[in-house]
Amino acid sequence: MKTRAAFLILLALSAPAFAQGGDTPGASTNKARPPVTSEQVYQQVCQACHMADARGGKGAAMIPALAKNPKLEEPGYPIGMILQGRGAMPPLTDLLKPAQIATVVTYVRTHFGNSYKKPVTEADVKMMMGQ
Ligand code: HEC
Repeated sequence: MKTRAAFLILLALSAPAFAQGGDTPGASTNKARPPVTSEQVYQQVCQACHMADARGGKGAAMIPALAKNPKLEEPGYPIGMILQGRGAMPPLTDLLKPAQIATVVTYVRTHFGNSYKKPVTEADVKMMMGQ
């Protein structure tokens, strides 16, 4: 009897861990592990489509590379993509706060062979949101 009770307690304790292990990072229900760093935002939100190396790919839709992408030079372009979406890329405003959008745009502009050093700020994003 004692063993069984201990087993049930263990099961109950481990259940939330399973629930958090879901594959929907950044989803609003997943409050336990919000992406904090710019890298985490990329990995949890953008990477699913644009791939870990940011080279994009061809799945259900053609996904453009962010690596070595001269269109990132103008920060308003990637910010606008995230705010409004286009084609198979949904707007990501439900998932990301303006500060997270700023940080992930700064991240892609300075990684994957891009070197647009000027950081994008939360204020830049809010301005584009009309705030
Ligand atoms: C659900 C899949 C998906 C996710 C998630 C996603 N994207 Fe995209 N992204 C796309 C697709 C598809 C396109 C091409 C849209 C089109 O032009 O029709 C695109 C296009 C872009 C472009 C324009 C590239 C170009 O050369 O025109 C940028 C910039 C971009 N995404 C950045 C991001 C960033 C940054 C994130 C994470 C915050 C992100 N995307 C998350 C699917 C996604």
